Amino acid sequence: MLSLLLLCVWVPGLLSAPEDWPAHSEPRKNFSLGGNGGRVFREQGVWNYSTMLLREDLGLLILGAREAIFALELSNITHKRAMVKWQVTGEMQERCSRKGKNLEIECQNYIRILHRMRDGRMYVCGTSAFSPTCDIMSYTNDTLTLEDKKEDGKGKCPFDPFQRYASELVDGELFSATSINFLGSEPVMMRSSAETVRTEFKTSWLNEPNFIGMEHIAEGEENPEGDDDKIYLFFVETAVEYDFYNRLEVSRVARVCKSDMGGQRTLQRKWTSFVKARLDCPVRDSSLPLIMQDVFRFCPGNWSTCVFYAVFTPQDTSHYSAVCAYKVTDIGEVFSHGKFKTPVTVETSFVKWVMYSGDLPFPRPGACINNEARDKGFLKSLDLPDKTLQFIRDRPLMDQAVLPINERPLLVKKGPAFTRIVVARTTALDGSSHEVMFIGTESGSILKAVNYDGEMVIIEEMQVFQQSEPVKILRLSLTVGLLYAGSEVAAGQVPLSSCRLYPSCLDCVLARDPYCGWDLAAKECVGVNNVRPDTHSQVVQSLMDGDASRCPLVGGVKAVNVSFLPGFSIKLQCQPGSNLAQVQWHRDGRPVVSSDTHHIHRDGLVILNASASAAGRYTCGCVESSHGRDYVTQNITYDLRPGSRSLVETSRLEPRMQGEQHTLVVLQVMVVVLSLTLAGLMVWNFYKGHFHLAGLCRHEQGQSIVLDSAPRESSNSNNNHNRSFERSNAEEKDGLNKAHT
Ligand SMILES: *[C@@H]1O[C@H](CO)[C@@H](O)[C@H](O)[C@H]1NC(C)=O
Ligand SMILES: *[C@@H]1O[C@H](CO)[C@@H](O)[C@H](O)[C@H]1NC(C)=O
Ligand SMILES: *[C@@H]1O[C@H](CO)[C@@H](O)[C@H](O)[C@H]1NC(C)=O
Ligand SMILES: *[C@@H]1O[C@H](CO)[C@@H](O)[C@H](O)[C@H]1NC(C)=O
Ligand SMILES: *[C@@H]1O[C@H](CO)[C@@H](O)[C@H](O)[C@H]1NC(C)=O
Repeated sequence: MLSLLLLCVWVPGLLSAPEDWPAHSEPRKNFSLGGNGGRVFREQGVWNYSTMLLREDLGLLILGAREAIFALELSNITHKRAMVKWQVTGEMQERCSRKGKNLEIECQNYIRILHRMRDGRMYVCGTSAFSPTCDIMSYTNDTLTLEDKKEDGKGKCPFDPFQRYASELVDGELFSATSINFLGSEPVMMRSSAETVRTEFKTSWLNEPNFIGMEHIAEGEENPEGDDDKIYLFFVETAVEYDFYNRLEVSRVARVCKSDMGGQRTLQRKWTSFVKARLDCPVRDSSLPLIMQDVFRFCPGNWSTCVFYAVFTPQDTSHYSAVCAYKVTDIGEVFSHGKFKTPVTVETSFVKWVMYSGDLPFPRPGACINNEARDKGFLKSLDLPDKTLQFIRDRPLMDQAVLPINERPLLVKKGPAFTRIVVARTTALDGSSHEVMFIGTESGSILKAVNYDGEMVIIEEMQVFQQSEPVKILRLSLTVGLLYAGSEVAAGQVPLSSCRLYPSCLDCVLARDPYCGWDLAAKECVGVNNVRPDTHSQVVQSLMDGDASRCPLVGGVKAVNVSFLPGFSIKLQCQPGSNLAQVQWHRDGRPVVSSDTHHIHRDGLVILNASASAAGRYTCGCVESSHGRDYVTQNITYDLRPGSRSLVETSRLEPRMQGEQHTLVVLQVMVVVLSLTLAGLMVWNFYKGHFHLAGLCRHEQGQSIVLDSAPRESSNSNNNHNRSFERSNAEEKDGLNKAHT
């Protein structure tokens, strides 16, 4: 019954839901932070790293935590340049705990607001043991100093460290959205200035809201109609308009005009321009609307090109998270030309919200003062007539919802919920631009995804924190090309791309990462931003089509001989390298099916208790499909033959594990081959007179072993890449002959 009713409400949303479901919602690659040159900052005894301010002008990341603020080197956050403590006094803590709050947790100072002021100093607010306080902080001579110009933070910063809030400092005035009282029951959006202006305490304005984000759009200077700058507020609240269901959460966008001064008699010191609308992110299979978790403002050009990217999570059990993007002009259209909702009382106390179809007073309710209003003598909000003000006081909600671009999400994914998002634009080799989404998750990772003309591609997943540590904040610095993430226990720094981690041409091109391309001459995956125009033709990148046909074929390779001792178990290693590749094992030309003795794992084939009849020619083929084409990304052949005991005994590399049901044996055939190759090459190198041993890398073409030359570049981060890559290859080689169950 309930779902039926809800369906009635959400049918418009459901009908516009996308029909084409993402083909795959697995990231193509998994990377760990160490592997791709990322870094982690944490300080002993300090937690809750969830406020960040980028100071690219100073080369700093200002990080707000519990009772402490750090100034970290922007390009290397493990380098702490300065730190200042801001602790609450014992007396304040006691007062807080007497009011029933937890001494150890709630009665501390959580830094929540960090903004850059016009003079270069910073505005800082903390929860200060349930008594929010703000101060001014400066950074000079490698020192952070709190100037002790304490001021009341009520209405600017939350009392409760667990409550979401939003704020923006615009031309010296702080716009904020939070609860203004100790109990957290009085939500406001306000501007702190000589003329403080705020929202009405009415459920039709804000109804148990959870504030998500606030963004300033500076359209005042360019708007052809002489319109004002706008402050957009994104939040989630309990819907008033669906009265049959008492706790339905909906996502909203609201906005106010920057120079709103409130009304003269009606709406004194309250916004005359507060209007709000529902934000839809229609996802099929979700019976209840998804709710917003974070929003990112992306403006590639002037204000009218701005797009808000938002992440959504389900309020039911559907496990789908989504990204939707909204044009600022689409939101403006709903507010400037849409219909309003109006409450009507049916029966005695039952209020129903319906579309208002009567005439609107002039100036239009909720509009900023623009040229048209000025021409009619309304120079500021104080001049607005009561009729206009009363209308908006009682009807701040628009009838129409704001729909995302193309009326569908850019990305839908099952799995750990999305928490945060930032978006970067990059230029591909062919000059096209692409918006790359970096999405923080509940399980401590960052997804990197692109939507290519409706096709959702999740390029990689970077594990930044432990699985149990949700990403609580994400920031992007285009100046240094790094991402910064914060969790309750650490802050992380992540590069925007990890091209060098793609070992082969197919891997690099099928990744469809707009930052990366395969250099056919240098035989490596390179960042395309550094490719000189005259060498474009030798770099392969195919973003829209994922076409890797220019890559050299992965040829058939000489078989690897493996001797085994009957009765023991064998593992034949075969790493697909991509989560999207299919692995197919054949034995003497026939497909291997999983059985009691043959187990096909993601990274290899395990033959338990091999009998002499297990001998044969085994091939592992990894095939990745892209736009209807199949690419063989790996092709490994093993010739398995029963061997003698002496060979196995003498070639054992690791001791047998105790207490294992199946004995573990490590064969050394590969090592022998390797050593011989190595020795041969060394001799040859000595002969040629240029010996440098940089590491053994497995060549893209299966198992041929090559002695790599020295790393081409010697910057620190690149060295890190190479080192970790060598290590993982070494591990793979060890694993190749390791037999275990
Ligand atoms: C990659 O990471 C995701 C999410 O943590 C996980 O579900 C998946 O199993 C990982 N894949 C591999 C191959 O490790
Ligand atoms: C601060 O971090 C601690 C340690 O992880 C966590 O238990 C606590 O919930 C965090 N507090 C807030 C307000 O997020
Ligand atoms: C980063 O900073 C840490 C701590 O100051 C330092 O040990 C490390 O060498 C730095 N790394 C680079 C690449 O500069
Ligand atoms: C910073 O250092 C310079 C030179 O050492 C000194 O003249 C200046 O007074 C210092 N400024 C502050 C704010 O301490
Ligand atoms: C803003 O940019 C758009 C697209 O580039 C352009 O069409 C429009 O004229 C610009 N508006 C102003 C006011 O410059």
